[in-house]
Amino acid sequence: MTPVIAAHGLTKRFGELVAVDGIDFEVAPGESFGLLGPNGAGKSTTMRMVGAVSTRSGGELRVLDLDPETHGPEIRSQLGVVPQEDNLDTELTVRDNLLVYGRYFGLPRRVCAERADELLEFAQLTEKAKVKTDDLSGGMKRRLTIARALINDPRILMLDEPTTGLDPQARHVLWDRLFRLKERGTTLVVTTHYMDEAEQLCDRLVVVDHGRIMAEGSPAELIRRYSTREVVELRFGSSRNAEAAERMAGVTERVEVLPDRVLLYADDGEAVVEKVLALGLEPTTSLVRRSSLEDVFLRLTGRSLIE
Ligand SMILES: Nc1ncnc2c1ncn2[C@@H]1O[C@H](COP(=O)(O)OP(=O)(O)O)[C@@H](O)[C@H]1O
Ligand SMILES: [Mg+2]
Repeated sequence: MTPVIAAHGLTKRFGELVAVDGIDFEVAPGESFGLLGPNGAGKSTTMRMVGAVSTRSGGELRVLDLDPETHGPEIRSQLGVVPQEDNLDTELTVRDNLLVYGRYFGLPRRVCAERADELLEFAQLTEKAKVKTDDLSGGMKRRLTIARALINDPRILMLDEPTTGLDPQARHVLWDRLFRLKERGTTLVVTTHYMDEAEQLCDRLVVVDHGRIMAEGSPAELIRRYSTREVVELRFGSSRNAEAAERMAGVTERVEVLPDRVLLYADDGEAVVEKVLALGLEPTTSLVRRSSLEDVFLRLTGRSLIE
């Protein structure tokens, strides 16, 4: 099957700065693909090149088997784009935002109206149809931006940090909507710096840092490859963590000291806790949890994803 996006050695420079440093990835039709990485990793820059609104400095890029350099309009007409910052027309009503956007794509008035009503339903905004967009909550604005991005029935929906800045409840509502799209077979490309979001939404992802791809795989594969099954989190008080970590060096293969806690990586967390206690150490709190993509990122870069 031809990939809907194929990037090889894709590069973007801003003067001296290499924002995207020769990355390779492919996205298959129907897949939910993610770029996970911290601020400044080059995620938005990559999205803008795929979205044919920014030209590449080097490498190869095909989107829907077309070159964005020469076929920008054809590509843009088949993409749905949710940019990092909402750019709704705040003076218009919710429904008019959809209609105006549909007209912009050249859709007939009747088709725009039908789709707008369907999409309002999908975005759970039917009751807000006549409200001025400025009066919506952050989560509602985000859902409206997603609805708007779907008005042209796109082949790929691109979402740049879909839930950044939203409260937990609003994030879950949004995830539920995106999950429904995924179930319907919509191809999703998502960027995020939230590991839980990547785990929720992505079939496959690349971990990016400083414009480079550090690893690629499904969330489960990445965790298997770069972490252990479980992680023990111990707190000894900020001044004693490093010293305690030294004394625990032999307990597991991998020990990480963070400012507020020590992480011990092992397949059997409880067994590790017992060994620590047997050493006579007394953590103020101890927690055994499953490994997450946060642990993968820490392993790959030596840093926490959210600093
Ligand atoms: N238009 C621009 N001009 C100059 N530098 C830019 C521009 N856009 C992004 N950058 C820089 O490129 C790097 C990657 O930015 P970005 O793609 O926005 O990262 P992310 O979306 O992962 O946070 C950053 O160092 C950023 O400051
Ligand atoms: Mg960004």
